[in-house]
Amino acid sequence: MIRSVILGSGSALPAKVVTNAELAQRVDTTDEWIVERTGIRQRYIAGEGETTSSLATEAARAALEDAGIDAKSIDLIVLATATPDNTFPATATKVQNALGCNGGIAFDVAAVCSGFLYALTTADSLIRTGTAKRALVIGAETFSRILDWEDRTTCVLFGDGAGAVVLEASEAEGSKRAGLLGSRLHADGAQHDLLYVDGGPSTTQTVGHLRMRGREVFRHAVVNLAEVLGEVLEDSGVSVDEIDWVVPHQANKRILDATAKKLGIASEKVIVTVDQHANTSAASVPLAFDVARRDGRIKSGDLVMFEAMGGGFTWGACLARM
Ligand code: ACO
Repeated sequence: MIRSVILGSGSALPAKVVTNAELAQRVDTTDEWIVERTGIRQRYIAGEGETTSSLATEAARAALEDAGIDAKSIDLIVLATATPDNTFPATATKVQNALGCNGGIAFDVAAVCSGFLYALTTADSLIRTGTAKRALVIGAETFSRILDWEDRTTCVLFGDGAGAVVLEASEAEGSKRAGLLGSRLHADGAQHDLLYVDGGPSTTQTVGHLRMRGREVFRHAVVNLAEVLGEVLEDSGVSVDEIDWVVPHQANKRILDATAKKLGIASEKVIVTVDQHANTSAASVPLAFDVARRDGRIKSGDLVMFEAMGGGFTWGACLARM
């Protein structure tokens, strides 16, 4: 049976760091409020010339190098983003061209903060059915460009960045064989108004700004994430104690703590980068994963749970053995 193995990871951040104190100079907020409510201390903001595709390409190159493979062998690129360079074509095709692996499959997935989970599951399905052999799965965003910088309830929460993984079809055998073990995705369109962008090509012909009812999003997030993690564990026949690491979507430290507590997962097993990166939407899970692999926490053989929830609502979880 074919399984998708994670061969390598990479990430990219814009050059410019904006601290809470710097933000407090332009909106009515304080470092203390932001840290206490969210755990965020700083975020990276894209400058001139930095785009979703440029960050995605940099992250993809780092992942290819980490995996030790040539871009030419990539036959699938799935890129999760809610902030594409253009309405069309897909940002994935720009990345493909920049990497020089033209000819294979390349498309974007729009599931906002859950985008990387949706992209990973889609790429895994295409690999397991034999449609692709080696895939780049990327989450990349420039949310700073859809924020209302006058709205202190949202603009303090987000940042820009990209993360990527290389997946490869493997037919290795053995009970502890590496690869993606299980995945569950969900969506509930009834929750549209809790988190959305108030513009788009088919409605206002503008890009629009992010709008959110934060308190209600928070409440749904903890319930939905705890449920979907439980589903993936049950599907995979794995107990919660066997998980070595949880790599969650980095929305808010309080959501991470509350979800871990609800599931009985020790906080030391939860990878946290929200303090450094803020919420980078689809990029946050692969960014956090790459940080934890490169600093040596996530190692070969470890059991890792990815999870995310975002606008739509969409949410999902995926379990992988490294
Ligand atoms: N600085 C200072 N004060 C602020 C700020 C700010 N940046 N933003 C809001 N406030 C004020 C409000 O005006 C309000 O004042 P009031 O009591 O005088 O009316 C007060 O702080 C409390 O506001 P709440 O919105 O009730 O604060 P809450 O404790 O719910 O925290 C937050 C807000 C951080 C947005 C929280 O609800 C949250 O994290 N929600 C989850 C949303 C999220 O992470 N979304 C990301 C996308 S979805 C996802 O990724 C899961």
